[in-house]
Amino acid sequence: MSNNKKKALFICLGNICRSPIAEGVFQKTVNEMGLGDEWDIDSAAIGGWHVGNPPDTRALDTMKKHNVPYSNHARQIITEDFQQYDYIFGMDESNMKDLSKRAPKGCKAKLLLFGDFDPKGERIIRDPYYDSDSKGFEKCYQQSLRCSKGFLEHVQKENESV
Ligand code: 4NP
Repeated sequence: MSNNKKKALFICLGNICRSPIAEGVFQKTVNEMGLGDEWDIDSAAIGGWHVGNPPDTRALDTMKKHNVPYSNHARQIITEDFQQYDYIFGMDESNMKDLSKRAPKGCKAKLLLFGDFDPKGERIIRDPYYDSDSKGFEKCYQQSLRCSKGFLEHVQKENESV
């Protein structure tokens, strides 16, 4: 049932570079693990500059290259998200500060740095928006892949210990 689903929201500053990649990769990872029905997944921005826009073409190209389907458009985080979602992931320390500032009292969601689940220990998913090439997008993809698997293993272990 949909209300039993675990809910994960991926956040970055603009919702056109990093969090769409994280969202798409996380969705693909749960699908491949046969857990697609167990998760509701979305992404959103801290800022409102790109609301309604598709991801940056470099993000779309990177996802296409790795066969990650993606068709969402940018939206800004709203207060209700903090009550709706179980997990809200930021990409860098600045995202985490902004999330903490916006979180209402009694916030249900766990606010987590996505990179804390990277088995390689690369904690920050750097903002590639102002880069002159797409290397940072490929790197974001690779980090998102490791972090998605790392986080899902973490959740599995938590479930086993209950
Ligand atoms: P993102 O990258 O947070 O990874 O989506 C950015 C996109 C746009 C802007 C900043 C970062 N901007 O300032 O418009």
